[in-house]
Amino acid sequence: MYKKYIYLIFILFSNMVFSQAKSDSVFEIGKEIFLNKGGCASCHALADAGSNAAIGPNLNQIRPNISRVMTAVTNGIGIMPAYEGQLSTEEIKAVSHYVSISSEN
Ligand code: HEC
Repeated sequence: MYKKYIYLIFILFSNMVFSQAKSDSVFEIGKEIFLNKGGCASCHALADAGSNAAIGPNLNQIRPNISRVMTAVTNGIGIMPAYEGQLSTEEIKAVSHYVSISSEN
């Protein structure tokens, strides 16, 4: 009887730990792309990334959701280049996740 509850609690707990770890690593990969491979930091201010560039809009001010970031990064917008072909779909998702989460602060 007790064993069953302990088992259930264990399952719940390990699921929480696992999904937490997973979203954290996507966040970190996205941050790395923002700073380096994607070069987003050279045009956009974002407090979490420590960037103050002002060529594109300040991301803490526009606070885009994930699909808005994905659309801008995939297709480009205005003078911002399209990243389709330069970043993989996974990389575009990661950087969009990072921007949408970190810009909320
Ligand atoms: C060469 C400079 C430059 C780079 C590099 C750049 N951007 Fe931009 N970005 C801009 C400019 C300029 C705009 C505004 C375009 C407009 O509205 O005409 C913009 C707009 C955006 C927007 C708002 C789109 C909207 O719907 O209004 C987001 C989100 C964004 N950029 C994210 C990123 C991310 C993430 C990266 C890196 C993968 C990146 N940008 C790289 C210049 C840049």
